[in-house]
Amino acid sequence: MKIAVVGSTGVLGCALVPLLVEQGYVVRALARSIKKAQTFLSQGVEIVECDLLSPNVEEHMAPMLDGCETVVHIATSIPRDFTAPNAWEANTRLRTDVVKILLKASLGVGVKRYVQQSITMAYPDYGEDWITEDAPLDMSSDREWVCAPVVAMEEMVRNVSPEELQWCILRGGTFVGPGTFQDRMIENLRAGKEVVPCDGRNFISLIHVSDMATAIVAALMRAPTGSVFNIVDEPIRQGEYSDRLAASVGVARPRRDEDAKCPNSWRCSNQAAKSVLEWLPKHNIIPE
Ligand SMILES: NC(=O)c1ccc[n+]([C@@H]2O[C@H](COP(=O)([O-])OP(=O)(O)OC[C@H]3O[C@@H](n4cnc5c(N)ncnc54)[C@H](OP(=O)(O)O)[C@@H]3O)[C@@H](O)[C@H]2O)c1
Repeated sequence: MKIAVVGSTGVLGCALVPLLVEQGYVVRALARSIKKAQTFLSQGVEIVECDLLSPNVEEHMAPMLDGCETVVHIATSIPRDFTAPNAWEANTRLRTDVVKILLKASLGVGVKRYVQQSITMAYPDYGEDWITEDAPLDMSSDREWVCAPVVAMEEMVRNVSPEELQWCILRGGTFVGPGTFQDRMIENLRAGKEVVPCDGRNFISLIHVSDMATAIVAALMRAPTGSVFNIVDEPIRQGEYSDRLAASVGVARPRRDEDAKCPNSWRCSNQAAKSVLEWLPKHNIIPE
């Protein structure tokens, strides 16, 4: 079985591709840098050079997917400076224009299965309530910059008839593990710069990147067509997570900033993924 991985050289791609190879998939890695793909991906992976944001990508996409039974879209472009002008433009295009192109090309060349990576951070604040997959995403204007492209992306996938393409959407929690934002948080903790906003009682839903990769493999095997899953570890309160992370690297717990705005609380449930995909997160969200 041949599978195209779009966004293969990222943190998740580097965890996912070896797993797919191990499972017996023939992987076609769409990568914008052949050199990077050759460095980070195992031998035996078919590498195809592809800048997803290049002006002529649409005309080249069908041949790039031809012969693949499955497409997994895990490409993203998170800016270094969130507030810079047009900082989110590339990411928005990867979630909108590129999804449209991928879906069209997939249908055109007879791809059977499509997995779309999404994010649980697109839910609004649900406070103490559990968030299951049927909870609406955030449509408010203050988080439009991040949520609107996610809503549009999921809608485009949902609009494809499951008879034509067996699609599945996986909403991942915030990634932890080597190479993720957790590294920067540890640096900040060590430097005494980390601050927990508000009272730290908001829930966060994290997922170790290796567990995100096993969830994709489980979805390829068991996700019913037209399904959506939260892929998260057990939710934890922000304050508790920060304190445990600080303890794991032997530094003082970060201070609370009671005057700061309370962040959204995301207590996402992973029950559906556990029962339907028969998947379990196995890696600790706090580094050993
Ligand atoms: N990070 C999180 O906390 C988190 C949480 C939930 C869900 N997710 C989702 O998980 C997925 C993977 O995230 P990640 O953390 O692995 O991201 P990442 O490490 O930033 O990797 C992103 C991948 O997309 C590729 N890419 C970006 N722009 C491209 C372009 N123009 N043409 C071709 N490829 C391009 C990158 O290629 P290069 O290697 O060349 O840059 C890389 O392979 C994304 O869908 C993301 O939204 C992430």
